[in-house]
Amino acid sequence: MIARRLPAIAVLCSGEGTNLQAILTAIHEGRLRARVAVVISDRAQARALLRASRAGAEARFVDPARFPTKARYERALISLLDARRVRLVCLAGFMRLLSPAFVRHYPRRILNIHPALLPAFPGARAIRDALAWGVKVTGVTVHFVDEEVDHGPILLQETVTVMPGESPSQLLARLHRVEHRLYPEAIRLVLAGRVKVMGRSVKIAEKR
Ligand code: GRF
Repeated sequence: MIARRLPAIAVLCSGEGTNLQAILTAIHEGRLRARVAVVISDRAQARALLRASRAGAEARFVDPARFPTKARYERALISLLDARRVRLVCLAGFMRLLSPAFVRHYPRRILNIHPALLPAFPGARAIRDALAWGVKVTGVTVHFVDEEVDHGPILLQETVTVMPGESPSQLLARLHRVEHRLYPEAIRLVLAGRVKVMGRSVKIAEKR
């Protein structure tokens, strides 16, 4: 009964799901007061689905191939999410671009995590692009999702120094460590009502 009163969140993933795992672990350890009402993946083989089931969360593969249009696919996602009264939709490696209609359905209620310091290196190849550019510092961004890709108001950012000669997988591992701390923290702040968004500016209220 107590679990029912916790705010419901959804996590959308396409792959490994290490960020989902970090969220589930934060909940399990009592660092995040929330419940994962549903995990949705667009890929049947996503390890994220396995992680969700193992943690006792509902895991749903929603196959885009079964829908004639993107709009119909997104409407299916929306009915799943709305039926579970989800407060916050957390994108964690969900490899599909959401339409403006979907984004407008959840104003300031969709978060995304990105492995670079936005607005630098948007897109799916952020880590490789940052290394190819030769940056000395990169990092992690948690932002609200708006109608443009990797563009919405920034909630949290943290830098990571690039080591000389570092490979993409080595850098990914170090970025992941930051992501796994930052994402549960960002969700916690939003659910606690401490985040105010005005245009591009995101203010985080002090703890009362
Ligand atoms: C993360 O690096 C995140 O920044 C990006 O996609 C990756 C997902 O990784 N959006 P995982 O599936 O959570 O392990």
